[in-house]
Amino acid sequence: MSSPKRRLLVTSALPYANGQIHIGHLVEYVQTDIWVRFQRMRGHEVHYVGADDTHGTPIMLRAEKEGLTPKELIANVWKEHKRDFDDFLISFDNYYTTDSPENKKLSQSIYLKLRDAGLIEMRSIEQAYDPVKEMFLPDRFIKGECPKCGAKDQYGDSCEKCGATYSPTDLKNPFSVVSGATPIKKVSDHYFFKLSDPRCETFLRDWTQVRTPLQPEARNKMKEWVGQPGDSNLGDWDISRDAPYFGFEIPDAPGKYFYVWLDAPIGYYASFLNYCESKGLNFEEWVRPDTTTEQYHFIGKDILYFHTLFWPATLHFAGYRTPTNVFAHGFLTVDGEKMSKSRGTLISAHSVIESGFNPEWFRYYFATKLNDSMEDLDLNLQDFVARVNSDLLGKYINIASRSAGFLVKRFGGVVSDGAMNNPLLADIASASEKIAELYEAREYAKALRTIMELADKVNAFVDENKPWEIAKDPEREPDLQRVCSVTLEAFRLLSLYLKPVLPEVTAGVEDFLSVPAMTWNDVKTPLSSQNPIKPYKHLMTRVEAPQIEALLAANL
Ligand code: MSP
Ligand code: ZN
Repeated sequence: MSSPKRRLLVTSALPYANGQIHIGHLVEYVQTDIWVRFQRMRGHEVHYVGADDTHGTPIMLRAEKEGLTPKELIANVWKEHKRDFDDFLISFDNYYTTDSPENKKLSQSIYLKLRDAGLIEMRSIEQAYDPVKEMFLPDRFIKGECPKCGAKDQYGDSCEKCGATYSPTDLKNPFSVVSGATPIKKVSDHYFFKLSDPRCETFLRDWTQVRTPLQPEARNKMKEWVGQPGDSNLGDWDISRDAPYFGFEIPDAPGKYFYVWLDAPIGYYASFLNYCESKGLNFEEWVRPDTTTEQYHFIGKDILYFHTLFWPATLHFAGYRTPTNVFAHGFLTVDGEKMSKSRGTLISAHSVIESGFNPEWFRYYFATKLNDSMEDLDLNLQDFVARVNSDLLGKYINIASRSAGFLVKRFGGVVSDGAMNNPLLADIASASEKIAELYEAREYAKALRTIMELADKVNAFVDENKPWEIAKDPEREPDLQRVCSVTLEAFRLLSLYLKPVLPEVTAGVEDFLSVPAMTWNDVKTPLSSQNPIKPYKHLMTRVEAPQIEALLAANL
């Protein structure tokens, strides 16, 4: 049934260590986790790694504001992030940090390989500088008046009032967000990764347009960047920042640091290396160019070019394998709008838990919205209540409660083995490969629709057979046992299909049905009279509409 055993390294993007995990982030971790759990159920070797992305100016400045060292700050945030991922059942095999010795070593050695390949160039550039704070200012740390409409307190790229776009040098009366001082221009040496080198162009054209089965939208975007031979838009990439900067020092350039986006993706490998060393796995075997292992990165659409241009080029020219594929998803909106602090829709992961929500409600809801595209997805709060209560509880969970009672009370929990030949069960089992293909292709919405259609059939079976009426007739005992056995085996199959999405509920199901942890092949292992089921315990509660109000209020 399953394909030959595959070996997969899977990552989700590394969240910045300067903020909380919110439900937008969770879309990505849930999407990845469902895929990872599915692959594990298929019997493949899967390693799912992540880390906090800890370096850069914003983290340095936030630490200073809070009276902490950057290392203290990122240690605190790591604990919060790890707690949130655990709460939402994100099954990382290793959750690490980019501020690690492994990452420092890998980043420095990769840089030196790029330098030795002739792909690093030093150039002087002029930049905004805060003369009071004595530091160079990233664009988002400069504000001023809009050159078009004069609105005050606008960022250096666009005006929130009139929508004009411009560059920071166009701002009137610019000031540093850090000290309030007027920025001056200052020259400094920067290190560049020469992506405009013909070798990079050729490689990236091949990697993005021919070699990698990128999503069509991603491939088209990249086509604009790599262009035609002799006509590419690939600029060199500035990979250095001046002190003060929280990050790794560049080995042959004291006082210069790697730009956070150089060491962040290398952080995937550093987390995996740390994991390999603790598990006795051979890291080299996974990362060398001729490896037969697979490597997948789940990301949001906003960080596509880092993962489909800079990262593959970095790996390739430093002598490593490149990603098998990069899977980008769209952005989460709430009730059709960008998440916003003032509407209470910038919902933190922790507030969801604190407000008494079941994290699996969210896993389920996101899954009903996810597909293989980069389209945005919407959390509609009314629809959320309806989907959870009518689909998840009404259609799925309800099946168990409708049949388990009779079986336990009247038959000691023993199913009828003969009932396992029922055509309804064959029908449900025959959907297994189709559902597997949908999970594999990240078409979760379609997978869940298919599963819920099967649940409809099971409910129709129960409605037709009316076990509660059969139960009144002592002469129809065998019938009652048969109907309940079919219903419970159908419930087991649905649970197996839902297991990647609902790991905790289905663990409860495995316990109550007295079956070992289900793998995909267990479609073929029906319930048996040898293992009586246990009394039904409540598996999941309904979501109550007032809970939604409380959640929004908690995030204001
Ligand atoms: N630190 C970088 C990633 C480095 S990967 C080597 C970063 N961090 S982030 O915290 O801003 O975002 C982490 C992930 O969450 C990204 O893939 C991003 O696209 C995703 N999302 C952040 N907000 C989101 C939504 N509102 N909706 C869906 N995904 C969102 O980027
Ligand atoms: Zn304006």
